[in-house]
Amino acid sequence: MSASLFRPERLFPMRLLYYLLPALSLAASPVPPVSAQTPDVAPVSAPAVLNSPFVVKPYLQWGNPDVKDAAKRLSVVWHAPDDTSAKWAVEVRRKNKWTTVPKSPAFQTVRVTTIEPHRVYTAELSDLTPGLANPYRVLRNGSPVFEATAMPPKSSGQKSRIVVFGDCGVNSAEQKAIAYQTYRAKPDYVFVTGDIVYGRGRVSEYRTKYFPIYNADNATRYDGVPLLRSTLFVAAPGNHDILHPDFDQSPDGLAYFLYWKQPLNGPALIAGGPNTAPFVGDVNSQNAFKAAAGSAYPRMANFSFDYGDVHWTVLDANPYVNWSDPGMQEWLRQDLKSAQKAKWRFVGFHQPGFNSSVKHFGEQQMRVVAGLFEQGKVDLVLNGHVHNYQRSFPLRFVSAKGQKNEGRKVDGTWTLDKVFDGVKRTKPSGVIYLVTGAGGANLYNPEQQTKPESWQGFTDKFISETHSLTLIDVDGNRLRVQQVDQEGKVVDTFTITK
Ligand SMILES: [Fe+2]
Repeated sequence: MSASLFRPERLFPMRLLYYLLPALSLAASPVPPVSAQTPDVAPVSAPAVLNSPFVVKPYLQWGNPDVKDAAKRLSVVWHAPDDTSAKWAVEVRRKNKWTTVPKSPAFQTVRVTTIEPHRVYTAELSDLTPGLANPYRVLRNGSPVFEATAMPPKSSGQKSRIVVFGDCGVNSAEQKAIAYQTYRAKPDYVFVTGDIVYGRGRVSEYRTKYFPIYNADNATRYDGVPLLRSTLFVAAPGNHDILHPDFDQSPDGLAYFLYWKQPLNGPALIAGGPNTAPFVGDVNSQNAFKAAAGSAYPRMANFSFDYGDVHWTVLDANPYVNWSDPGMQEWLRQDLKSAQKAKWRFVGFHQPGFNSSVKHFGEQQMRVVAGLFEQGKVDLVLNGHVHNYQRSFPLRFVSAKGQKNEGRKVDGTWTLDKVFDGVKRTKPSGVIYLVTGAGGANLYNPEQQTKPESWQGFTDKFISETHSLTLIDVDGNRLRVQQVDQEGKVVDTFTITK
């Protein structure tokens, strides 16, 4: 959404009443009620509640793994005061014995304007036991101060469950309801399709609209859930996260590059170079950000990783990126080429090329790589930016003037597979594009849900009257996708097989 039109969520009395109604549609729910869940998302960390040693409590991240042991490790990240006397350590419990992880936690000090200096610690949870929720704990000066569990990433051949949503961090009742449904679904990991935190992706905004909601100590639908400590989150950066690096307006902006630890295997971008956002504003604040971000900026804007049977390619779709650039296209081509042995290929980015909403309709810049997705045999493209849910027919696209950068509007022709129905006919010809940007911010174009005449020809489903998340179950040659609303009701479902 454009920043100028963004209005923070407000809680109306009627809306509150609506949430307090106990009539959950559990019969239609794809997940069991919380009370029936096994406790492998542990509501622990009691020592941290009072007199917390953390600025932000521990959360799981990919880190930048050596591919060889990627399935056995994860990173845990926490923020702490800039205290030189504190000695931090991490232990993993194996066979009822706590064992210190081999590498000492590393840290980067964040000294950005307007924010108290703090350290972002990262430790590698290595040699995790596959298939188990591995208990881990964080110690400060020898005393345990936080405990949770980490499920190691799945390997190829193992089933996996993914929740996807975007456009979330506004501190709204709807964001918390979607967080709660995510918790109930017990995913292996969560993918956020961008606009993680509104309105400028600032450190200060992460502290009120992201960490407290997804890393609360207890699970409630009204406040938050203890997800981040035990469930890996991966994200694509959106426009609200990184598009406007104005260090006069947002000296603590671009927190995406400070707080996320994602693979640094994308195109080797250079700060201030092509396909990066131009910085404006106070130069001292710019330099403070660069020092704190280190190698993450700007490289972490694009990356790829494997989880279970899925290869993910994550792209920066912000308009300063020219996806007609031969270097960018070559990286994408090679990445997908290298992933041809993966059973499934997903691509995630923020601004959708194929969108039927009136809102953001003209922002079609990512259509220029639709042909590369088709060549690379991509199965699903997952986007946000548009705050509703849309599913395309399997489609193939040819740009009117070839794959050139024609500005944000990209005309062309599409070929649709209308034989695929996702039920009996489950082998699509073409790429299925999902917009799943209804993770918490105000919904776009609810009036279009019941007006299919207002949809583009490529759109098969359009749900804009409710917030929702995408739940994907990957099971060998079968992919089951469900769209789940804020009450836990399945509002769309389809299956793809190979
Ligand atoms: Fe957006």
